This record gives sequence, C-alpha cells and structure tokens, in this order.
Amino acid sequence: MLADANALPDGARVQPHPDDESRRLIPVIDDFDTKYPSVNMDVAPPSSRTYREHLTDLLPPSVMSSIEWPTRHEFIGDLILIKLDDHQRPYGSEIGNALLLQHSRIRAVYEDHGVSGQFRVRELELLAVREHSTPGTRTCIVESGQRLWTDPAKVYYSARLSHEREGTLACAQKLRALLGRSIDVCDPYAGVGPSLKPLISENGLVRKLFGGDLNPSAIELLEENIEHPSATLECVDALTLSTRNDMLASWDLLLVNIPHDSLSHLPQLLPLLRGTGVIRGWAVVDESDFQQSELLLQEILGMDVELEIRRSYSANSNLCRFEAWIQSE
Ligand SMILES: C[S@@+](CC[C@H](N)C(=O)[O-])C[C@H]1O[C@@H](n2cnc3c(N)ncnc32)[C@H](O)[C@@H]1O
Repeated sequence: MLADANALPDGARVQPHPDDESRRLIPVIDDFDTKYPSVNMDVAPPSSRTYREHLTDLLPPSVMSSIEWPTRHEFIGDLILIKLDDHQRPYGSEIGNALLLQHSRIRAVYEDHGVSGQFRVRELELLAVREHSTPGTRTCIVESGQRLWTDPAKVYYSARLSHEREGTLACAQKLRALLGRSIDVCDPYAGVGPSLKPLISENGLVRKLFGGDLNPSAIELLEENIEHPSATLECVDALTLSTRNDMLASWDLLLVNIPHDSLSHLPQLLPLLRGTGVIRGWAVVDESDFQQSELLLQEILGMDVELEIRRSYSANSNLCRFEAWIQSE
C-alpha cells in the first residue's frame, strides 16, 4: 500500500527502533500522512545502484534480458576501460553512460580492444564522456600515494604490478643499507616511471638514476613524472646501452621489466651493473618451461637464483620475479 502511494523512499530499508528492539520502523517519505506514530531519524544514504541498474533506465527490458552484460571493467585514473563482446558492442554507448551514472568521479569510458605491439599499448574506442568534460585518454593515476601521468592509448601501464613496486622500494632500501650510501638506479624499460617514482620520493635513497624506454610517448610522460637532480631520461633501445661508456658498470640496482623478453635481454644488460649490485626482473614463463627458464636464468647470472611465481598470466603461463644479489669478492 505504501508502494502504491509512492510513499517508500528510494533504497531505504526497514530497521529496528533505536529505543525498542521489539519494534520495527518502516521508512516513508517526508510529509507522508500516516495514521501510525512516526519517528524522525537520520538514515544512511541508499546504497548506490550498480551500472546494470542504471542500464535498465537506458535500454528496453527486451534488450536487457537478451544479453549477458559485462561484469568487469578497469579503472585507470578518471577513465574506465571495458572489454565488450559482439553482442554487447551495439550497446556500448549505453553501457558507457550507465557507468558514468554509477561512478561520479569518472570522466570517460572507453572500449578496450586489448594490447598490441612492442610498446604493449591498448587500442581504445570512446563509448561515453561526461557532459562538459573533454574526451581523451591522458589521465593521472595515484599509486601508493604518488601521482603519475599516463595514457593507456599511448604507453604501457598496469596497476596490477603496484605490489611489485612496493617490493622494489624495499629492495632499494636494503641495498642502500648494505652499501652504506644512496644508490644509483637504472630502469631501462621504465614506461611512465611507476617503479622509479617511489624510489625518488624517499629522501636520500637515490643518488642518480637512468630511466629509458623505446616508446617516445613513454619518455614524454616519464619527464613529467620523474623529477630528480641527477636523472637521465632517454628514448633508447635498452639493448644498445651496454655499448656506452657512461652506462657500463655504473648502476647498483638494475630493473628488468620487459616480461616477454627479460631472459633474452638479460645478457646484454648485465654489463650495466657494478660489481656489487642487484638485478630485479620480471618474466612471463610457460608452466611447461619453468625449470628450464630457471636454469637459463642461473646460467646467465652465474649464480643460484630462484624464479618466483607472482601471479597467473594466462591459462598456462605465470608472471615470475627474480632478484639476484651480486657481490664481488
Ligand atoms: C612491461 S612494460 C614496463 C613499463 C614499466 N616498467 C611499468 O612497470 O609500468 C615494458 C616497457 O618496455 C618498453 N620497451 C619495449 N622494448 C624496449 C626496448 N628494446 N628498449 C627499451 N624499452 C623497451 C615498452 O615501451 C614498455 O614501456
């Protein structure tokens, strides 16, 4: 009856009387004339609606019931990226608008057609943009309290590896303690700088640094993200660095984050490291190749190093990490 009279506030729930557990309070809208005693109280705002609930306002019931709607999407800064199948794609703009209705801080929604090429950038297509906002894929993310500019349509960035970057910071701190001084850090596959940023944000941790990437767009963003008095940021092929005298045997910590090629690139990167130093790298390894890859790693580094599985990468491969502490006698 209350529903018939449009007297039920959106999303409000029946709840116990604050002073008498045996009684229940039924929510009604302000000014509703009821013959029952009423109690005025503050209630939590109604729980926000899901994007699917918003979608029901934008599409007819026949369409809503005929399709399985996407259940996952990714947030990057003020963007949402979503993968759509052929059935969902015709309703991409409605899906985008429903997501904008659900997430008030999101500026635009893009369809994610996946990563491609050597730079592992995403092909993105605009689905919806908030009124009075400009579309565009450049966005600012916050990772472990640090702000970084990125652009998923032009450069590689993955928030999924943020935990690994916390480990890199801990590794750098340990190395500084071992050497008894600030350290020199080389990140030849730096992207927009998510590994370097936490290191330079800690006072006195980094003495000098090199951040390189073959993708010119990554270097543009890296220059915006990384400010350090002794930083060299360069668009360069990592495989050529060991031919340069200014790079040879110059670094205490070497990061190798090119997971599909880390093991094959490693021999050409090793000469960059000083006699005492750490190599920390990531590699995508097929389950069937795991032992062979670990042996190869040990052969390249000339020491006993473990490949640690960090997370699953595909149905039969994993993202693995290695960390080799090399100490000259
Ligand atoms: C997996 S991403 C890692 C980026 C960054 N370290 C991060 O964690 O977000 C690999 C990066 O290597 C760059 N790259 C690919 N081949 C390269 C090469 N031969 N030399 C230098 N950079 C390269 C790509 O453009 C990409 O930014």
